[in-house]
Amino acid sequence: MGALYDATWGRAFTALYDRGVKSTEEAGLREMRRETLAAATGRTIDLGAGTGGNLGLFPEEVTELVLAEPDPHMLRRLRAKVDEVGTKAEVVAAPAEALPFDDSSFDTAVFTLVLCTVPDPVASLAEAARVLRPGGRLLFVEHVRSEEAGRARWQDRLERPWRFLADGCHCNRDTVATIEASPLTVEGVERTQLPKVPPIVRPLVRGRAVLAS
Ligand SMILES: C[S@@+](CC[C@H](N)C(=O)[O-])C[C@H]1O[C@@H](n2cnc3c(N)ncnc32)[C@H](O)[C@@H]1O
Repeated sequence: MGALYDATWGRAFTALYDRGVKSTEEAGLREMRRETLAAATGRTIDLGAGTGGNLGLFPEEVTELVLAEPDPHMLRRLRAKVDEVGTKAEVVAAPAEALPFDDSSFDTAVFTLVLCTVPDPVASLAEAARVLRPGGRLLFVEHVRSEEAGRARWQDRLERPWRFLADGCHCNRDTVATIEASPLTVEGVERTQLPKVPPIVRPLVRGRAVLAS
């Protein structure tokens, strides 16, 4: 969104992020993360890992963890959180649209609250599918466009100011439709609500998609 925005608001947003989502995490997000990530196995990549909200929630079946994150401010906090939690993980500076990994090299890919923000969700999903092995799974927890016409209209109206305030987050993306249009097949989706957030970012989906064998 521009160097000045990134150096000022982007940096401040990162500093405020964990404090801003604390009550949402405690009111249910952390449990939804845990339940969704319970299906992760083998070599796993967390895309747009942010400040490490998923750390400590991956099950024992995960044998190797890679955390990919392009934002330098987030990366700094992510590295500190990895050390603090004591999780063994490789931290990589990379956007979801261009991952420095071989084809078919992961068993699980994870997006939590990221497909709302990536500049190109179609390319990000294609890239996740590229690095997944056949039969590999994508696990996701994402806030999305509302299925209620009235709320979706408000999401469209407020999309620009929200995007500016929330560091590039689009509140009106139909992420399930984008996953369905990707090389992945959606296996299951639960539609629920993100607690303790403004109404335009409340509609939430969590689920899994698989890359055909
Ligand atoms: C709302 S935060 C979510 C962070 C974390 N996944 C979580 O669950 O708390 C959105 C994240 O997406 C990251 N992001 C922005 N553009 C991205 C891109 N092109 N590829 C991957 N991540 C990106 C941001 O830097 C930020 O860390």
